[in-house]
Amino acid sequence: MSTIEVTENLGATLADQYRVVRAVSEKLCETLTTEDYVIQPMPDCSPTKWHLAHTSWFFETFVLKDRLPGYRSPHPQYDYLFNSYYNAVGARHCRPKRGLISRPTVDDTYKYRAHVDAAMLDFLSTAPASTLAEIEPTITIGLHHEQQHQELMLTDIKFVFWENPLRPAFRPSDIGSIGEGSLAGMELHPSGGMPIALDGHDVPVPQWIDFDGGLVQIGHEGSGFAYDNESPRHQTYLQPFSLAKHLVTAGEYLAFMNDGGYRRPEFWLAEGWTTVQTQGWNAPLYWEQHDGEWWQFTLTGMRPVDPAEPVCHVSFFEAEAYASWAGARLPTEFEWEHAASTLPIAGNFVDNGLYHPASPLTPNNGGTGIDQMYGDVWEWTQSSYAPYPGFQAPPGALGEYNGKFMCNQYVLRGGSCATSLSHIRPTYRNFFPSDARWQFSGIRLARLGTTA
Ligand SMILES: [Fe+2]
Repeated sequence: MSTIEVTENLGATLADQYRVVRAVSEKLCETLTTEDYVIQPMPDCSPTKWHLAHTSWFFETFVLKDRLPGYRSPHPQYDYLFNSYYNAVGARHCRPKRGLISRPTVDDTYKYRAHVDAAMLDFLSTAPASTLAEIEPTITIGLHHEQQHQELMLTDIKFVFWENPLRPAFRPSDIGSIGEGSLAGMELHPSGGMPIALDGHDVPVPQWIDFDGGLVQIGHEGSGFAYDNESPRHQTYLQPFSLAKHLVTAGEYLAFMNDGGYRRPEFWLAEGWTTVQTQGWNAPLYWEQHDGEWWQFTLTGMRPVDPAEPVCHVSFFEAEAYASWAGARLPTEFEWEHAASTLPIAGNFVDNGLYHPASPLTPNNGGTGIDQMYGDVWEWTQSSYAPYPGFQAPPGALGEYNGKFMCNQYVLRGGSCATSLSHIRPTYRNFFPSDARWQFSGIRLARLGTTA
């Protein structure tokens, strides 16, 4: 293959990938109004406008300014406004004040995206093969970075709309509104186990799937993209363990609540119990009672809590307390990865357009008997977010991408209904602080195995 063919192929391939990913970000915004783009209801949530600009800044900073001769940003201060946390790049705007920026306008932000897109596509069609080969890993990180922000755009706009008493819907739906439907009665747990009484407090009994444990390989190696925090691949010893066949359902979680789960300190870690007290938690985020029935806010508006769907928007503290109440524990991230490593990557991802976790209607277990490992909700693990043996952050600004956050956070696995299918893999490590619950985060139980 000639050098010219390599240039054309790599440049064209990257251009195709770039167009697809960048278009998804804007497609997600098609139902937003100008006012929706600007609000920042808490420091963890960035305005939609900021996400759109920051993901463009990433390509501008790490590709165009270095590699496209003569490239100029539309505004010299964008570098300051849209740098998220890269100290090596320079000073930046205060994160909690992103919602106070009315300029650039939404229209100017889209013009900024178009400016960066035109430059990127120009670069990809004209750069020498050697340059493209050098920069390809950075462009690929930029595309995965944009997919991460697409999920954050959804979780953040959900919190924005939740703060609005009108409870606007991100996407229209024909599902009933407040005043319709009922949670009365009994529902059959999807595992086929005992029925869950919505006004009851019986501790549900999961169906357990056993794993032998032993010496297993953890982490990424080989071709294909992975973040630095997924390497090096290494050996870990696992005791025999069992994982629950299904995610914890809303009906099961309601039994925990009905049994005084949020009022009984014996289930909670000390810091978790303090958080319950100070935050006034008595249910998952986005749940509220109307006329004695539990409803939840979704990206398609308010709807009754479906007891068969996975419980969602719980913190690590809540996941841990539920597991304690249920006489089980959370899996380690290594148990999760070992169990998931041979499963097909399929499930309820953002590609489905549901924007909400769903009941396990279609088994996806690859013959192992375990369901919903991928998609629906990120699964909290008991593993602290820490470097793998031999991990070293890469040199330069992009070395700040993951490594410097390995403190006071827990690992979540598997992706959610807001994650792109093409973004996830068995070794993927997400991470959030123990009190975070505005992500699509849920619970799978584990216990010591019985196969030893
Ligand atoms: Fe970012």
